[in-house]
Amino acid sequence: MRFDVKAAEYYGRGTPDPNSFLGPSFVTMVERPIKQLVARYHLAGKSILSLGAGAAFEEYWMSQAGARLTLNDLDAAHGHIRPYLETLPAGDLTYYLEDAAETIRFVERHDVLYVSSFHPDEIRREEIVARHGGWPIGESPYHELLLNAMGCVKPNGLVIFQHYRGGVDPSTSPHYILAVRDALNVRGITLADAYVFRQAPTKLLIVGFRGEPPDFGPEITEFHGRYPYEWIRRDVVKVYDYRRGVIPFAPPSTLERTRRRFVNAVRRALASTFAPAAAMN
Ligand SMILES: C[S@@+](CC[C@H](N)C(=O)[O-])C[C@H]1O[C@@H](n2cnc3c(N)ncnc32)[C@H](O)[C@@H]1O
Repeated sequence: MRFDVKAAEYYGRGTPDPNSFLGPSFVTMVERPIKQLVARYHLAGKSILSLGAGAAFEEYWMSQAGARLTLNDLDAAHGHIRPYLETLPAGDLTYYLEDAAETIRFVERHDVLYVSSFHPDEIRREEIVARHGGWPIGESPYHELLLNAMGCVKPNGLVIFQHYRGGVDPSTSPHYILAVRDALNVRGITLADAYVFRQAPTKLLIVGFRGEPPDFGPEITEFHGRYPYEWIRRDVVKVYDYRRGVIPFAPPSTLERTRRRFVNAVRRALASTFAPAAAMN
């Protein structure tokens, strides 16, 4: 079911509305990383299709930068998106409340396909890794729905995937990034960038382009603003660049891990005593 609503009202008249189901906290948490995406990939003014968008608090910053949003979600788990949409005036933000497979069948092409943690894709990968203890050579890195969704990207458009759950560690499965490159290639997309958290390398940011390479902005130094540990989500390494190919990276040594664990246990204990809200950073 399609809803066309006013983006400014959806997002509480330009600021995250504490009375809407969006709430301000997630919006604030993801501000820095999403602004980095906007800057590196010039998302200002682009048309963005986001599948499995949920409340779309990451997309808030894209909308603030002047992007036009087309969102999709099943909303099966909570059922609170529809009643919210029904209260809003008609406008420039399109929300398809349905299976993404349905949306991608007829939606017009967009400048950007954005997917941030799509359950069916992540659960599939998680099950494959659990079954094989790593990424099997020859296995498709993406759910078919996401591969098909790449058809919704215009010439010179972008694909941006943020993976949280069910990720594959490229330091132990180095062929995985090449499998991603090849899967995108089959759909006419060139893998531009792949970033991971050095301390938790199964969390990936994958970006590809169709046609001409975009004029890239500053490198990404942080992504996934909701990841609970700031020291992990700000320790980002690039593992693929379309001009350089695969970039080897060294995961933290046992000594570094042990030191980190100790320092963070102390910081958390101190923080939960003196400032409980900061205990996760
Ligand atoms: C982990 S949440 C991510 C939500 C949002 N992108 C974010 O970053 O917070 C995954 C979302 O995928 C949605 N989803 C799962 N299967 C779907 C499907 N077949 N079509 C559309 N949305 C789906 C769920 O309803 C859920 O909102």
